Amino acid sequence: MGWLNSDITAVGRRMYSNKAGEATADKLSVLGAAYPTDGWTNTTPVILQKTGRGLLHQPSHPLAILKELIFQQFPDFAYYDSLNPVVTTQQNFDSLGFSEDHPGRAKSDTYYINGDTLLRTHTSAHQLQLLKAGSSGDNVLLAQARNGHVAPANERFLVAADVYRRDEIDASHYPVFHQMEGVCTFARSEVNEQLRQTGKTGQTVEFSDSNPLQIEHTAAEASYLVEDMKRTMNNMVAAILARADGGQDGFPVRWIDASFPFTSPSWEMEVLFRGEWLEICGCGITRQSMMRNAGVPQRIGWAFGFGLERLAMLLFGVPDIRLFWSHDPRFAAQFSPGNISTFKPFSRHPPCTKDVSFWVSHAAPFHENDLMDLLRVTAGDLIEGTQLIDSFTHPASGRTSHCYRITYCSMDRNVTNEEINAIQDQVRAAMVAQLGVTLR
Ligand code: PHE
Repeated sequence: MGWLNSDITAVGRRMYSNKAGEATADKLSVLGAAYPTDGWTNTTPVILQKTGRGLLHQPSHPLAILKELIFQQFPDFAYYDSLNPVVTTQQNFDSLGFSEDHPGRAKSDTYYINGDTLLRTHTSAHQLQLLKAGSSGDNVLLAQARNGHVAPANERFLVAADVYRRDEIDASHYPVFHQMEGVCTFARSEVNEQLRQTGKTGQTVEFSDSNPLQIEHTAAEASYLVEDMKRTMNNMVAAILARADGGQDGFPVRWIDASFPFTSPSWEMEVLFRGEWLEICGCGITRQSMMRNAGVPQRIGWAFGFGLERLAMLLFGVPDIRLFWSHDPRFAAQFSPGNISTFKPFSRHPPCTKDVSFWVSHAAPFHENDLMDLLRVTAGDLIEGTQLIDSFTHPASGRTSHCYRITYCSMDRNVTNEEINAIQDQVRAAMVAQLGVTLR
């Protein structure tokens, strides 16, 4: 559906406070600001706390190390890494051309603060605002740029940030992860001048009906952008992977046609790394309507959005995404800024599984992500994963029953069976109270 993955400013510094987020009946407080709640509010206290962890600002954290390594590959871009995760539905969806009924907007997929405000689901939420910052004179925003002296900070920039999505629980999914956005724009006149000088006045890349050239671009302009984007991304990925794989030169890359509301044509980039095709990011040629809305119609450009976790797990040999959130000092102590080193697992504690079977209520539809959030609130990171092991609908009554297997396992401490039993009792009680299910 079109989704993929220091200096400290005021916002960044606030992210260190323990009390990042707090919920009262009619207000949610996130990073020091209070927001009214309404029928859309579904952000839980567990998630609010994550807004204050600031993993990208801990210099020895693998995600921060990877962030800095990527920044270094773009010496003439401005970098933003402290933008507030609370954005408007306008920023996250409308400004990018998401349709009113796009599935990404569903409450089951997104953490809403209220009907107008949410925790960003991707770093693209900042694209329009940043592209516009020059023409709208938003100097407060531009002043947050690191490396901002090398370029007008709204013309070529990277945004690294935490993003939030309601999702299943397993070793590679977590409701918070990190993305790196890259946006590069050019003066249209300069591109055309270069095309004339180099005699490249025709089309050099392929477009298709399902992944079309925009009618507002000439084939030569779009070809120029696509070539520049692919070259830039190839270089970045090769440079990062080479650091991990002992200087290997070049990594096979493939470009899969994709579709995003704010780019055309669009691709997903995949890289062959240690025998596996790794989906690295989404990218494409920025829709000219975005450039117009940003007040820079005379510019054209490209964009990519890159998930940091999957790559960091591979590069640093981290087997479970929850480890990035571990408070265990044995985790962070293993890494140092500027180095990609391999994680040495500390002893894994034995997992413990519990099954829960229940009838779904006739009155309230059952959404799996609601169960996942309930589990996160009740058991936090003790949950390693869940599995739907049985489902059936009774032929006579028409009622549906599900059985989920919950695997509990701590990343960093010993958990007793009694503790897990007590948590499982809380889970069962919360399921009845909040999901309206009938336990079997
Ligand atoms: N924001 C998109 C996602 O999260 C990725 C993307 C970014 C695609 C920029 C194109 C350009 O999936």
